Amino acid sequence: MTDHFSTKSRLAAFALAMVIGAFVSAGAAQAQSAVDEGRKLAFDRGKGNCLTCHVIKGGDLPGTIGPELVDIKSKYPKREDLVAILHDETLRNPLTVMPPFGRNRILTEKEINAVVDFLQTL
Ligand code: HEC
Repeated sequence: MTDHFSTKSRLAAFALAMVIGAFVSAGAAQAQSAVDEGRKLAFDRGKGNCLTCHVIKGGDLPGTIGPELVDIKSKYPKREDLVAILHDETLRNPLTVMPPFGRNRILTEKEINAVVDFLQTL
């Protein structure tokens, strides 16, 4: 009787572990898909078009009008700083040539967030 019960509870624990595992990997997959989406938007010439001005790891035919985007997470540890740069860099530098992606609705807030997820992996 006790054996039977412990088999059952072992099974229950195993099932619970499977469920937790599925949730954890779904979360990781979601984060990864935001990074992929952000990279796509950044490299898309009709969207972020960041490569026109920035060297970015993995991107083809980059321009050098802006600084290379590298080690971004240590330079800007706070994600809201990156969101602000993408939303409207003219607030930091009125003379910048970087387009105000948020203010001019070139990218939606959701798209800006995905690009920031990608930038934080650089
Ligand atoms: C037309 C050129 C241009 C485009 C397009 C452009 N940027 Fe920039 N970016 C710049 C310049 C120039 C700077 C330097 C800072 C300034 O001008 O205020 C800059 C600065 C930055 C910085 C701060 C970098 C640092 O080291 O301090 C980040 C982050 C950034 N850009 C991200 C992006 C992303 C992401 C995209 C695409 C969604 C993008 N930029 C598109 C010109 C551009």
